[in-house]
Amino acid sequence: MSIAVFPGSFDPVTMGHYDLICRAAGIFDKLVLGVLVNSSKNPLFSLEERVSMLRELTKTQPNITVCSFDGLLVDFVEQQKADVIVRGLRSAGDFEYELPLAQANHRLNEHADTVFLATSPEYSYISSSAVRELLRYHADIEEYVPETVLHYMRECGMISK
Ligand code: PNS
Repeated sequence: MSIAVFPGSFDPVTMGHYDLICRAAGIFDKLVLGVLVNSSKNPLFSLEERVSMLRELTKTQPNITVCSFDGLLVDFVEQQKADVIVRGLRSAGDFEYELPLAQANHRLNEHADTVFLATSPEYSYISSSAVRELLRYHADIEEYVPETVLHYMRECGMISK
């Protein structure tokens, strides 16, 4: 059985993430979304909110589970009995950032190989940091995040109905 981990901060999960999540879930038998606790960053959404939005978003996809993790990604990968790490690439800039991480992870655990999926072009301008910035200025983020996330934000009064 092939088990893959898709790690990230998911602060918040975007359309680009969701596209990659669905595609990865079609490739691997089981996909674990690993939500980083983010000790060094100051996330907009709490860990509980990020996990809960991802669970709601993927609730009809039986081979996807959502867990949080702290510490090294390779340790989480081992705990989950996975051997693949999935990351998305939007641009050459992403590749420059991701390549040394993938190499470091492989050196830490030779069973942890990173598989890169090319972001669908229609989502290549989307990032969680852009969503957070737009929210700060009360700009429209409808194209950026799945309906589940918009619904959550409306319910907690972050955006107008
Ligand atoms: O969505 P992000 O913030 O780009 O995800 C980054 C993530 C979670 C993949 C990365 O920060 C990570 O793996 N953090 C855990 C600590 C770790 O293992 N770092 C790599 C060691 S070189």
